[in-house]
Amino acid sequence: MEIWGALILMPSEPFFFIQLSDPQLGLMADRGQVSPEQGIAPEVALFEAAIAEANRLQPDFVVVTGDLSQNNMDPVEVGEIKRIGGQLHPSIPIYWAPGNRDTSYGNVASAELIERYRQEFGPDFHAFTHKGVTFVVLSSTVIFDPSQVPDEWERQLEFVGSELAASVERGDGERIIFSHHPLFTADPDEENAGSNLPLVRRRPLLELFRRHDVSAVFAGHLHRNNYARDGDMLMVVTSAVGFQGGDDGSGYRVVKVLRDRIEHEYYRFDSGPESVSL
Ligand SMILES: [Fe+2]
Repeated sequence: MEIWGALILMPSEPFFFIQLSDPQLGLMADRGQVSPEQGIAPEVALFEAAIAEANRLQPDFVVVTGDLSQNNMDPVEVGEIKRIGGQLHPSIPIYWAPGNRDTSYGNVASAELIERYRQEFGPDFHAFTHKGVTFVVLSSTVIFDPSQVPDEWERQLEFVGSELAASVERGDGERIIFSHHPLFTADPDEENAGSNLPLVRRRPLLELFRRHDVSAVFAGHLHRNNYARDGDMLMVVTSAVGFQGGDDGSGYRVVKVLRDRIEHEYYRFDSGPESVSL
């Protein structure tokens, strides 16, 4: 279990949420891990297991940090993601973030795919508050490569800055970011790679996060768990609901936002906690 408590944080009352990442319907078949006949069925079953766990544990909300589809917003894959997400108990909100497989072609963000994503899942970057905590959802595909949509990056950077400033102004207890791509995987200054966000855009984001005391970023993309820090800020990567890149196993992360710290832990679907106590 990772525990963080360097600052006194003050959500108005303790709560927990569940992070899911990379259900990515279709990747297993693409990789030859399952037969073409099986298609997306194994990943459908895993996403159903994830939603069933959320219904059992009753978090305040669920967030899915991207790579919902494997094949660029394929209507069948998107339809299944939305159908299964719709099985979440009506009292539990679900928030979505886009991944590279959703809104980019060859890792270059696409205006057409972003538009389709918005029609299906709502804004690709947005913010919400819950019990005195600000959450900002990034459209990290645009941050990875905005060459085809430069205005989208500028708009997003301005949005993130103004949301974080407003959060500090309101006196919100803390600020947490959701992103498909991790900003970095080991060191905030590490070289550019497919597994992080390019330094030229990582640096201004980290500068905003430091200035506004962001306490954690929860990401996906790697299909394995990974933990790093920028000072006191946690950079947490959660393994996939679907295809695994390591040996973590398909699962989900429970994140407790407590009065003085964040606690989080990754669970496989077959070994979740009996309940979550705060
Ligand atoms: Fe992925």
